[in-house]
Amino acid sequence: MKMPATRAQLRRWLSASLIVAIPALPGMAMAGWWDNNDEPEAEETGIVKWWDDDLVGQLHLVESVVNLNQNNLIDSYAEFPANVDCPDSATDARQPDGTCNDLNQTRMGSKGVRFGRNVDLSAGYPDPELMSPNPRMISRELMTRDEIKEVDFLSYWATAWIQFMVHDWMSHENSETEFHEVPLAEDDPLRAKLGDTLDIPVTEVDPTWTPYENTPPAYVNRLTHWWDGSQLYGSDAETAAQVRTFQDGKLKIEESGRLPTDPQTGLPVTGFNDNWWLGLQMMHELFVKEHNAIADMLKSEYPNWSDEQLFNKARLINAAVMAKIHTIDWTPAILNSSTTKAVMNLDWELVAGGDKNLREAPFSLTQEFVAVYRMHPLLRDSVEMLDVESGQTIEEVSTKDQAFAAAPGVLDALGSENVYYSFGMSHPGQLTLNNFPKFLQNLELPDGQTLDMAAVDIIRDRERGVPRYNDLRRQLDMPPIADFADLTPDEEMVAKLREVYDNDVEKLDAVVGQLAEGYRPEGFGFSDTTFRIFTVMAPRRFQADRFYTNDFNERVYTPEGMDWIKKSNFRKVILRHTPGLEDELELVGNPFFPWDTDSCDWRARDKLNCSWKRLKNRFRR
Ligand code: HEM
Repeated sequence: MKMPATRAQLRRWLSASLIVAIPALPGMAMAGWWDNNDEPEAEETGIVKWWDDDLVGQLHLVESVVNLNQNNLIDSYAEFPANVDCPDSATDARQPDGTCNDLNQTRMGSKGVRFGRNVDLSAGYPDPELMSPNPRMISRELMTRDEIKEVDFLSYWATAWIQFMVHDWMSHENSETEFHEVPLAEDDPLRAKLGDTLDIPVTEVDPTWTPYENTPPAYVNRLTHWWDGSQLYGSDAETAAQVRTFQDGKLKIEESGRLPTDPQTGLPVTGFNDNWWLGLQMMHELFVKEHNAIADMLKSEYPNWSDEQLFNKARLINAAVMAKIHTIDWTPAILNSSTTKAVMNLDWELVAGGDKNLREAPFSLTQEFVAVYRMHPLLRDSVEMLDVESGQTIEEVSTKDQAFAAAPGVLDALGSENVYYSFGMSHPGQLTLNNFPKFLQNLELPDGQTLDMAAVDIIRDRERGVPRYNDLRRQLDMPPIADFADLTPDEEMVAKLREVYDNDVEKLDAVVGQLAEGYRPEGFGFSDTTFRIFTVMAPRRFQADRFYTNDFNERVYTPEGMDWIKKSNFRKVILRHTPGLEDELELVGNPFFPWDTDSCDWRARDKLNCSWKRLKNRFRR
């Protein structure tokens, strides 16, 4: 490779090398290329602000990615589950339960297989201090939102999207009979409803796990681990059968554009419908329509194909469209910096279609990956619904009134175009402390349970052995903090943290520490600690998946399928199924940015038109 001659070239080269060099770097690290100093050093503390120093900073990041890939991809099985048989069709099609993606270890990444770890197994045991400090007290003191703090550089679509992705990736099984009993304080308003304790169901441990494995208790995924659209298609054959029409490869959707409803629950019939709300309703409708549009395209190219052939191919293509949107649209929006844009484009361009690489461990999502995606503060407590024609407010709809079975009714009452536009014009909550949606602090689930999700987020990490903040950072080769003031310049917050955690930084919970991190790169919607897990797991989901590497080609996807993926992005998907929004999206290249054309976004091609539109909008409102 030609070496960079100037500082600017070096900066670009380093950005690119974050992704490009990953496959080669572990070998270099193993050979001691990075670290030739064996002298023991005093533990460095504090947040390393690598972003303030672009050259050294980027080298620091490259080193971190190398180390994480080498040391932090850890299998949680003493013995990996035995193979299942694969049908002949599995070579070119995803299986409903995620088996047979890896043809050597055929259960890899499938439903019911354990989450792996990004920390050493010895550091991954359940926390013996499950109730200390009391998670509900932390929720009330450090999470409660007075007024929403918004991410003004993102549209609210970004919130709906990430939960839609989480529902493709991971979910744990809860016990129906065992509960963690969290004591409620005398003045806790939840007492009126719940009595002395908030009861949080225990996470079910994998029934095949025994302490004789000498590993921490392990937990299985209720969904496939792969990036395969299982939130739409289900993670088992029975659910897959419920969502299909069995005609021309299509998925079920009503004439009205709504998903069919399960008369028993009032919830939509889809691959995964837990924790349902308006944002998920919109996403599922869009991508069911996308699937059906792909099936139509394939049918016109291959009129003799069976329903099964059309379905399987459309699923492959639709899943790749979603993975691409996450990589080139969502990620560069939430990590809104020029480096991220360059790196994520390279991630898609270079990793997709490259060679499969499992590194040292069978692929699975990890307990720490689940932990960092607990991004509940992104949720608002209400959305101002606007009329797309006039820009005037129709009404403010609370999240409670958009949740569970109420979601489709909002679209029926207000119309998809108005709701889509309103999501484009409102913003997510910031991933910071004291910004947790009130709706989720007193969440009434359809089965009658009441949960405080902020307390749940804390207790889950402790229960599942995700280390507390400082230990998690040590595990990720990041310096721990020595004082709460290392986290943030917000002195009031530092004082509160000291009080809640008894001035002991080692007690700080991972989820709380990440939200408290006030020192972040400019434009980063989440913390540097979260980002590190992300740097190792984001490329891994591509690199481990046969259908994004060796089999990401015209033979498996068809030339038309590859072309569809190449030409698709989130804007195109929205417009394909909601053409009435052409005007609103005319100047919005990436719908995860605000649709407010006052700030024409970075991909707006026509700057003159952008200025004209901005002027027009000023007069319209
Ligand atoms: C109306 C919106 C939402 C509701 C009602 C909701 C509710 C829930 C519930 C009930 C759980 C399971 C709790 C348990 O462990 O017992 C959960 C888990 C989770 N949620 Fe949410 N949530 C919402 C939005 C979001 C959003 C926007 C994100 C952003 C990424 C998110 C990420 C997660 C993650 C990562 C988990 C852990 C899954 C697991 O344990 O495997 N949720 N949520």
